[in-house]
Amino acid sequence: MVGFLLLFLPFPFLLYIAAPQIRKMLSSGVCTSTVQLPGKVAVVTGANTGIGKETATELAQRGARVYLACRDVQKAELVAREIQTKTGNQQVFVRKLDLADTKSIRAFVQDFSVEEKQLHILINNAGVMMCPYSKTADGFEMHMGVNHLGHFLLTHLLLEKLKESAPSRVVNVSSLAHYLGRIHFHNLQGERYYNAGLAYCHSKLANILFTQELARRLKGSGVTTYSVHPGTVKSELTRHSSFMTWMWWLFSSFLKTPQQGAQTSLYCALTEGLENLSGKHFSDCQLAWVSAQARNEVIARRLWDVSCDLLGIPLD
Ligand SMILES: NC(=O)c1ccc[n+]([C@@H]2O[C@H](COP(=O)([O-])OP(=O)(O)OC[C@H]3O[C@@H](n4cnc5c(N)ncnc54)[C@H](OP(=O)(O)O)[C@@H]3O)[C@@H](O)[C@H]2O)c1
Repeated sequence: MVGFLLLFLPFPFLLYIAAPQIRKMLSSGVCTSTVQLPGKVAVVTGANTGIGKETATELAQRGARVYLACRDVQKAELVAREIQTKTGNQQVFVRKLDLADTKSIRAFVQDFSVEEKQLHILINNAGVMMCPYSKTADGFEMHMGVNHLGHFLLTHLLLEKLKESAPSRVVNVSSLAHYLGRIHFHNLQGERYYNAGLAYCHSKLANILFTQELARRLKGSGVTTYSVHPGTVKSELTRHSSFMTWMWWLFSSFLKTPQQGAQTSLYCALTEGLENLSGKHFSDCQLAWVSAQARNEVIARRLWDVSCDLLGIPLD
């Protein structure tokens, strides 16, 4: 017994030593596109931290006019200045966007439409995970409201501009967690039953279904769309769960950095020749499998209609 224990004693130490190599293995997928973006306009939601900040930085590095669409303007202004200094691109702007309030989304689009004639890249990146049960200003369950419905409305309101600017792209940041998600139409707002972890999964499934239906409706328009899983990334996403924060801390050596986590979003936004794959899901800069639920066109169409209904968007 003692011999057996002694055999395994060095294991944690070896694991710790090997952590950088293991992380490298798990972080495969680098956006190798050399596309430059002078004259192009990009919007990144939730760009004041984590994956969104790194995505915005790279788009600015390539010369785009980049809008950081964030709910905390003060925090985002500091990040904008940091990106400007790092990239030498002064065309990095902060605009207020609270995805938990449809009034804020409409105000953002109204101001943006006055400021910019074009929009070439929309990265729907912002997200919340494992919030205690709460509702948005419009009464939507927080995960479904921010992660899905907020981005659904934002994209809808920006669609004409995206079409006018074609070729243009919409990238929706989903998650591997969508595998545990289900769209319970009878309990979309979590009023009958609520589990914070599952609520996140449901909203991430909605991101993929939205991407597929959007791609179907945009066929031939020159606007293409992709959903992505960024990997497991060290960020502030776990802030609402002490358990997940502890797990993230425990396994932090194995997690992707936000910069590594941004690679698949950048790949989908920038890589040439991806147009035929509109509606598909990507991870580690390559096509990825999605759950059976996420491939269900009937659910995708119904979710589209229900989302329009909830947001007061006329059905076409
Ligand atoms: N980290 C991972 O392992 C992982 C894995 C799979 C998928 N993802 C997805 O990746 C995306 C980015 O997450 P992250 O890891 O970078 O997390 P993060 O560091 O927590 O960043 C999330 C961003 O979303 C913003 N946000 C939250 N609620 C918002 C609202 N109501 N309106 C506008 N912005 C809001 C946050 O703003 P504040 O700073 O003001 O709160 C923050 O800028 C999310 O969609 C997430 O689901 C992450």
